[in-house]
Amino acid sequence: MGKNKFYHILNFGCQMNESDTEHYAAQLITLGYEQAPTIEIADVIVFNTCCVRESAEQKILGKIGEIKHLKNKNKELVLVIAGCMAQKEGKNLIKKFPYIDCVIGTHYVNSFLEIIQAFLENRKKLILLEQNADAKTEFSGISARKSSFAAWIPIMYGCNNFCTYCIVPHVRGRERSRSFAEIEQEIKEAVAKGFKEFTLLGQNVNSYGKEFPGEDNFAKLLEIVDAIPGVERIRYMTSHPRDMNEAVIKTIANSKHICDHFHLPLQAGSDKILKRMNRGYTAAEYLKLVELVRHYVPQATLTTDLIVGFPGETEADFQATLDTVKAAGYDAAYTFLYSRRSGTPASEYSEQVPLPVKKERFNKLLAMQNEICLAKNEAYVGKVVEVLCEGSSKTDATVLTGRTTGNKIVLWPKIKENIAIGDLIQVKITQAQTWLLKGEQIC
Ligand code: SAH
Ligand code: SF4
Ligand code: F3S
Repeated sequence: MGKNKFYHILNFGCQMNESDTEHYAAQLITLGYEQAPTIEIADVIVFNTCCVRESAEQKILGKIGEIKHLKNKNKELVLVIAGCMAQKEGKNLIKKFPYIDCVIGTHYVNSFLEIIQAFLENRKKLILLEQNADAKTEFSGISARKSSFAAWIPIMYGCNNFCTYCIVPHVRGRERSRSFAEIEQEIKEAVAKGFKEFTLLGQNVNSYGKEFPGEDNFAKLLEIVDAIPGVERIRYMTSHPRDMNEAVIKTIANSKHICDHFHLPLQAGSDKILKRMNRGYTAAEYLKLVELVRHYVPQATLTTDLIVGFPGETEADFQATLDTVKAAGYDAAYTFLYSRRSGTPASEYSEQVPLPVKKERFNKLLAMQNEICLAKNEAYVGKVVEVLCEGSSKTDATVLTGRTTGNKIVLWPKIKENIAIGDLIQVKITQAQTWLLKGEQIC
């Protein structure tokens, strides 16, 4: 019998990257590799990279540097840099780190098996960066999902929006959707394996199926998934506020399994900044959309993404963000300092906001949002919520953790031995914190 072969994948970035990582893993497993218990013994190391902000890139560059000693020790080790930063930086990465073997862009996720095989045959460095509209969207068939109950389901790739700050459309290419049938098939197979929660992934899910006949294809897809027997919960991300419409909201309201959670990235509350960002909505239009959501799904939780310090943002513009955030009433907000991405229009804008000003505004926004989060969570105290159990808490084996349909994290003491991951549990909330709820299981 030959020696076992091991792989190790380091993942950075968004849920789409986490999903891609599972597909890289699946293809390595098909080739006979096993997940390495430690990175030191891996025969293939894959960095699945992100470049959405400079901080992500710096972290990745540092980690690639740390791998050098492993390459020195094991000349056979294959080092692959894949994903968004690979797409953006291409051969610059090999210039910086000559021990990299393959740099693979974002359009080769489902051709990875062939790429590794080709490399192993002649060990010639590979740089594959073509953004090919015909890139394979079908999967290798076997799944290497990290979770045992929640499955990522990519429904579309790429982004056509070109928000002026964002590198994603440059590195992920143009929008392309998987077919209804392929998505349905993948979900049915995952249900048969015991998966209960499905997150439909795309940079802009509301654009799903724009290239197909008919309208409202994202709403149609939601209906199809909602009707698949065994699907317990459906999530999706990310939806663009400009494209989120009444048809989709109504579908969600009328569905059995689509979660009561809307993630609607606002980015900024000033109309001037929103225009310069090319977001395609005003703050007033955004708040109207929130009203529509609250009308059809009153119990829905609402979360957002915000960027602080976009070029040209004045104190008054920042105040408009604070005002809009307050008016929207978010359950949670992911707040980022604007990061200059070369190749994007905003990186050329002259009025870049100095870092100390960005940081000050960031802290102010965070403090305000944290207060809102806490108040939102306090409103749950005394209520009973349904939680999908995700297992024991990381820090305490006697405590279980899970999420509500609104994506709130809930912790509760384990009182029964026979609770399985993926079970739906009724929990009475007794305590609220900014980021989580605590409670007791109702028997
Ligand atoms: N397609 C998704 C996710 C994009 S990236 C969407 O449109 O929502 C996730 C978040 O990163 C964005 O919503 C934005 O808030 C943030 N982001 C993107 N580019 C950024 C940049 N250059 N600087 C800071 N934050 C950025
Ligand atoms: Fe980036 Fe905008 Fe596309 Fe989201 S919608 S990925 S923020 S360009
Ligand atoms: Fe990062 Fe690429 Fe996702 S840049 S946020 S990993 S699409």
